[in-house]
Amino acid sequence: MPLAVVTGKRQNPDPRYYIGTGKLEELSLAIAEHQAELVLFNNMLSPSQERNLERALSVRVVDRTGLILDIFAQRARTFEGKLQVELAQLRHMSTRLIRGWTHLERQKGGIGLRGGPGETQLETDRRLLENRIRMIQKRLEKVVQQRGQSRNSRKRADVPMIGLVGYTNAGKSTLFNTLTHSEVYVADQLFATLDPTLRRYQVAGQMSVVLADTVGFIRHLPHELVAAFRSTLSEASEADLLLQVIDATDERIDDTISQVEDVLSEIGADRTPRIQIYNKLDLMENPSPRLERDEQGLVAKIWLSAQTGQGIELLDQAIIGRLGGEIRRHELHLAPTDAALRARLFEVAKVLRDDANETGGWTMEVEMAVKDERRLSEFGRDWMPRQAEG
Ligand code: GTP
Repeated sequence: MPLAVVTGKRQNPDPRYYIGTGKLEELSLAIAEHQAELVLFNNMLSPSQERNLERALSVRVVDRTGLILDIFAQRARTFEGKLQVELAQLRHMSTRLIRGWTHLERQKGGIGLRGGPGETQLETDRRLLENRIRMIQKRLEKVVQQRGQSRNSRKRADVPMIGLVGYTNAGKSTLFNTLTHSEVYVADQLFATLDPTLRRYQVAGQMSVVLADTVGFIRHLPHELVAAFRSTLSEASEADLLLQVIDATDERIDDTISQVEDVLSEIGADRTPRIQIYNKLDLMENPSPRLERDEQGLVAKIWLSAQTGQGIELLDQAIIGRLGGEIRRHELHLAPTDAALRARLFEVAKVLRDDANETGGWTMEVEMAVKDERRLSEFGRDWMPRQAEG
């Protein structure tokens, strides 16, 4: 919780402190009054502004990018996600170091020093940073390559994984806690470390799943953080079911929903079964929990309150349906090389139609329980039609 919030309007940021001297004074008084140890700026500061502010205020100053990077670092779980976040952190740091260095160099030049110990240290730091950046870039290239290769042989875990996605402040963590408040942290061979954002959840006492909280979407994400954000979120595309948490009281609700959907398709998560959760029902005029189904009769939207728990039982039932017995119908267009998939479909699904088509492949119409779709995971997700069509 912030101790104090200082806001201001300014036509142009001050080059030295971002804020004007009056605001600086106000900030300084607020720090003294509350004995604050950290000042967060909801803006991007240049490296020298950050440094000047730290000097003037004698506390740590973190800008918007720095804070978001910290959050990403806590939330990144996959190897690739961790690498992407570290890369963004190092890049963020290196702009600061390099400019810090030129700044010091100028100072030293002024008093006739050349190559003092401080300067050497900074040069070394900079070289180490550059080495580390290069190494991470190489590793990332490899990871991306391997991901391409192993896409079709991905092994799915025995316990279904449910990912919570959505805009920041939509209520993901509240829902996560409400669902799992009496549950213990997940600690088994699935996860190498205790991770506060992964928990096992016994749905209505009937079915064991793992819930994964993900990093929230943010308006005006600094562009240098986009890659890191995508990769911390990329495991959402591996989930068996996504709960897209939406703040039903959000004034820009349509805009936020479509932004989230765009990103989900970019990371390939648009084929993952998804339920939209319209949260904060308790604040709405008609606070009765309800649900809406899609054309196929699957639960698509649920209105509930993560805070009061109203409507949670609708969600439980929907999860059991989605990961359990609910039936989906798919029309598939298989290539001649898909014979193995076709054979497998005959085992797993009810085949309603199976016609040879002009490409030498088959057009099939199949019906199967959602839970059985997991049994086709060796073929990746590519066989599945996009959710919007199916
Ligand atoms: P990030 O961690 O930033 O991504 O946010 P989040 O999506 O996890 O949201 P969080 O659960 O932290 O909730 C944001 C705010 O909304 C908090 O102040 C919650 O108390 C509040 N909130 C969440 N769910 C409800 C709800 O059902 N009703 C009401 N009235 N408030 C809620």
